Amino acid sequence: MNSEEILRDLAAQINTCQNCVLAQTRKHAVPGEGPANAEIMLIGEGPGFHENEQGRPFVGQAGKFLDELLAAGGFDRETVFITNVVKCRPPGNRDPQPVELEACQAYLDQQIAAINPLIIVTLGRFSMARYFKDAKISQIHGHASWMGNRFIIPMYHPAAGLHQPNIKPTIMQDFRQLSALVEKARKSASAHTDAPASNDEDNATQLSFF
Ligand code: URA
Repeated sequence: MNSEEILRDLAAQINTCQNCVLAQTRKHAVPGEGPANAEIMLIGEGPGFHENEQGRPFVGQAGKFLDELLAAGGFDRETVFITNVVKCRPPGNRDPQPVELEACQAYLDQQIAAINPLIIVTLGRFSMARYFKDAKISQIHGHASWMGNRFIIPMYHPAAGLHQPNIKPTIMQDFRQLSALVEKARKSASAHTDAPASNDEDNATQLSFF
């Protein structure tokens, strides 16, 4: 299967998934969307009300702000892949529980492996925790780290900017780095083409670019 077929197959599995209790209350699962060869992948927290209604990621107010942030970085949403750590809405927008994150993890792992993006943008603390255990978003937002074969850059969740308008300019500033980071990632990736290909994030050496 090519990466597009893998993503389609994963979406079909996600849409009928019964691996945790969120399946009981969802209207639509939200596998994620975007090109299979996207250079940038954004990982949010989980579907909210509107995403649950439509089966698409970031289509509510936070999604509108995310579109603005991407535009500030020089991208539009059609060129990036957008997904979440959990694919079904936690009722009442509560935090996803550890058992739910675990039930969904293999889907995200396989999406990342299929897309093999140059940059992963984590949005908020749940996706940040996948790469930066015990880190504080207020301390590391906007700071990219090269892990294995890609940059991981933690960003504030767009909803944080809606709840705290004073951090909106900071979030904008963080996203403005994106196109330069893509350039840097392309160069780093081609400089490493002699090294054995690795998609193994756990064993990756981490270099930070502040
Ligand atoms: N917030 C998220 O984290 N993900 C969405 O898809 C929508 C809102």
